[in-house]
Amino acid sequence: MENANDTPLVTLKNLHKRYGKGALVLENIDIEVSGTEFIGLIGPSGCGKSTLLKLIAGLTPITSGELEINGRSPAAARDRMSFIFQDATLLPWLTVHKNIQTTMRLHGVDKRECALVADKMAAVVGLDKVKNFYPRQLSGGMQMRVSIARALSVSPQILLLDEPFGALDEMTRNHLNEELLKIRSMEDWTAFFVTHSVAEAVFLSTQIIILTANPGKIFKKIPVPFPYPRTAETRESAEFQSLVGEVSHHLRSVDR
Ligand SMILES: Nc1ncnc2c1ncn2[C@@H]1O[C@H](COP(=O)(O)OP(=O)(O)O)[C@@H](O)[C@H]1O
Ligand SMILES: [Mg+2]
Repeated sequence: MENANDTPLVTLKNLHKRYGKGALVLENIDIEVSGTEFIGLIGPSGCGKSTLLKLIAGLTPITSGELEINGRSPAAARDRMSFIFQDATLLPWLTVHKNIQTTMRLHGVDKRECALVADKMAAVVGLDKVKNFYPRQLSGGMQMRVSIARALSVSPQILLLDEPFGALDEMTRNHLNEELLKIRSMEDWTAFFVTHSVAEAVFLSTQIIILTANPGKIFKKIPVPFPYPRTAETRESAEFQSLVGEVSHHLRSVDR
């Protein structure tokens, strides 16, 4: 997804964040992202990962520095972004098909179009056979798929994911990681993905950003060179394991 001009998709420059009069949460954050990246954010608990996503989403204001999405303020660019949380946050009284539509409805998409897109998205995430099920009838992994379908239904340019698969078992998580990349190869959004799993970050990302805590600062940016498509075999390669080792090593040194 190239921009018409050379404006980066997301720019954070010398960004600082504190909540109210509280302690500094993020200090001097510099990140510049083009439209082709998948950014993995990793760091100790409380280092400001969720805050960073909320800043980009325009859900909380920056304290100082610069933050631009496509040369605009996050608030002005909000319709280009979707958020996926660890909790799938589905409405229990709505079917899968209706749950997928809730974000589109908020965006003012008309009913007929909502239903059509929900059909398409249910198929993309492999839920077409359970479209009329209710959330309680789904596994955790299936609920996350609904959440992904709902987020992607509005064709976001930027997807913000806050530990979306953190509560799932490793096999389900690996599976969803592969599916997420498959969907991205068709839809081409830019991701900011928070995770505690080094292997997950390496598998998904074009670049991993390691943060330190108190206050949150960028410790290291690590490019991930493996070409897409990445598959289960990618995970088993020696290069993959070696990079997982390297990132884990850095993470240990900041997580003390
Ligand atoms: N709404 C808020 N008001 C005040 N402090 C907050 C708020 N949200 C987060 N914090 C504080 O900011 C710091 C970073 O939190 P967070 O971004 O959730 O970290 P992470 O996601 O890396 O665990 C923590 O010290 C947390 O207590
Ligand atoms: Mg968090």
